[in-house]
Amino acid sequence: MSLAVSLEFENSVAVVTINNPPVNALSHSVRQGLWDYLEQIERNSDIKAVILRAEGRTFPAGADVREFGRPRTPPILSKICDRIEALPTPVIAEIHGTALGGGFELALACHYRIADQTARMGLPEVGLGVLPGGGGTQRLPRLVGAAQALDMIIGGKPVSAPAAEALGLIDRAVKKNLHQAALASALNLIDHGAGPRPTRDRVDGLSNVAKYNSEVAAMRTRHAKSPLANIPRIINCVEAAVLLPFEAGIAMERQAFDECETGPQAEALRHAFFAERRAAKVPELKGAELREIHRIGVVGAGTMGSGIAIACLDAGFPVTLVERNVEGLQAGISKIEKNYERSVKKGRIDETTRQNRMEQLNGTTEMQDLGQVDLVIEAVFEDEEVKRGVFAQLDQVMRPGAILATNTSYLDINALADTISRPEDVVGYHFFSPAHIMKLLEIVVGAKTHKDVVATGFALAKKLRKVPVRAGVADGFIGNRVLASYRLAADFMLEEGASPAEIDAAMRDFGFPVGPYQVLDMAGLDISWARRKRLAETRDPKERYVAIGDRICEQGWFGQKTGRGYYIYGGESGPVENPDVLTIIAQERAAKDITPRAFSVEEIQMRCLSAMANEGARLVEEGVALRPSDVDVAKLYGYGFPRHRGGPMMWADQNGLLAVENALKSYQPEEPEFWKPSPIFAELIKNGRHFSDLNGA
Ligand code: NAI
Repeated sequence: MSLAVSLEFENSVAVVTINNPPVNALSHSVRQGLWDYLEQIERNSDIKAVILRAEGRTFPAGADVREFGRPRTPPILSKICDRIEALPTPVIAEIHGTALGGGFELALACHYRIADQTARMGLPEVGLGVLPGGGGTQRLPRLVGAAQALDMIIGGKPVSAPAAEALGLIDRAVKKNLHQAALASALNLIDHGAGPRPTRDRVDGLSNVAKYNSEVAAMRTRHAKSPLANIPRIINCVEAAVLLPFEAGIAMERQAFDECETGPQAEALRHAFFAERRAAKVPELKGAELREIHRIGVVGAGTMGSGIAIACLDAGFPVTLVERNVEGLQAGISKIEKNYERSVKKGRIDETTRQNRMEQLNGTTEMQDLGQVDLVIEAVFEDEEVKRGVFAQLDQVMRPGAILATNTSYLDINALADTISRPEDVVGYHFFSPAHIMKLLEIVVGAKTHKDVVATGFALAKKLRKVPVRAGVADGFIGNRVLASYRLAADFMLEEGASPAEIDAAMRDFGFPVGPYQVLDMAGLDISWARRKRLAETRDPKERYVAIGDRICEQGWFGQKTGRGYYIYGGESGPVENPDVLTIIAQERAAKDITPRAFSVEEIQMRCLSAMANEGARLVEEGVALRPSDVDVAKLYGYGFPRHRGGPMMWADQNGLLAVENALKSYQPEEPEFWKPSPIFAELIKNGRHFSDLNGA
């Protein structure tokens, strides 16, 4: 018998307990154990009721991640669910912790559900490109109706036990003594001679077919444009639950699950899932001692500094915020105040929390006040001189062993570290705007950064609920360097005949929420202009330079904030293409003697994506990124790369490395250095391997 499941008897009640730490995942050993005990229970006529429960911190929280994407060794979950449901005695699910995915489907197959008040339950499979495959699409609508079931399955968000009780998903939520309550329910059911109550036979959720048909239809319309292959299949399955016999619905669910699981989107989403976890594994963690962080200082209360302060306050840290003058400080604090007021209005936090957070914030114009903090995150202007000045002051006032982090976007951290007496305590924390919302945190490791400082950064990222990615020192680290290549590939096309709107539309068509020129307009065209001006002196004159962005900025058009950029803003029907920009583009083409040509959507996508993947490969080659999947994580969490595509390196794998390399080679005559394929392509192709083979465990 499997050790992951046990069977005990409490009077005439069989108690089946799953014990597969840490989250009681439904691994093969658990499934086999359940299967074997169900067989025993079926044969034992002394058993009058069954309780299904789990040891440890949670009812099963889903499938075993090691089995994702692989055919499951029998017994499969849906057969176990069917067998539970067919038992001749009442079966009660005793739910605590987080009953998710297959775990929740097990509970749905039980005849009764009783949950701890603090439990949460739901079906998050949608996020992995699949759908519930253990009967969830058929049983859930039978309990709560089509609209609610679709909300839960497509939304993928778990519900709390009280909400589940209100919905009729569970029979009861209890405040304490869950097991006693489950046992009492079992005895009560026995006393009343209650038999099984199979969910498949219940119509509570589906008594009004016409209503549910229209709900399904509404959902289909709402998601008509979704690029996700699993969404229409989920809707079909729930529709089947409304219209067809249970078995037919289950067969449909099985087929839909298999089709999705073996498809490219699920592969990409699984990749994203594992890539995020892998990114947190960096060599510096080995043998490192974490430095204690109790109090954080933030220098600069501008766009980034105020957002970083909020992220730290939200994680429970007291924050000392330093600005150069009182006005700057007031402006920063008022941004933070407004953020929390908005959060209260939207019901995200309560008034007490708002007050607590603001009480933890200490604003000052004195660097001296940073003497007792354990970490400072510097977010002053992107200017080497200014940052050096700040670091020199920090070096004077901060206690030994405290960490000095810079939020620079591009500057050389090694050069900065070498200007102070403790370069080993210097690290880059590259946040993304808005810093309290965006998930990505690039942790930039300098040549002298101590491993304890790196390890502490990764631990802190977790507390700040960020997704950390390790980056070496390079212009733009990982994310911005790939971004620069993306933009350059787009700019070349602009010069050669494509319009900003065409390029934006093509990239939206690929799955980006917005295209590259829309992003530029949002971020402010002056920001990248300032950088280009800074780099002008060192630019290789042989390099092809697209000056369209400069010409636009020279007009004083900086994008959304000035009402004009690549698009014109403020009109009633939303942003429209800026015709004057099209004129500027035409002039630039004429000046370079370029005869414009048309670009197809496919070519725009291929050029942009192959440029990104090639830059990602170079970063791996240079050791700036530890592995290809780190490039993907950076793009997914910081730059809106569509998650169901898995990131640029996954895109290259799925598209075929040979095809990507051939595309790069075919563009190479236009700009030899830029389009030169990274040698990693040839190496992988020669050995029949992929970028994913370089990711390690
Ligand atoms: P910002 O201009 O909004 O804010 C900078 C703030 O620093 C200003 O409030 C200024 O008064 C203050 N400051 C300047 N010198 C100071 C000093 N000596 N002591 C105290 N405060 C001082 O700039 P932003 O956008 O917040 O950028 C800050 C840093 O973050 C830059 O290095 C930037 O490259 C980087 N960054 C910016 C991102 C963005 O999207 N804006 C994204 C990621 C990084």
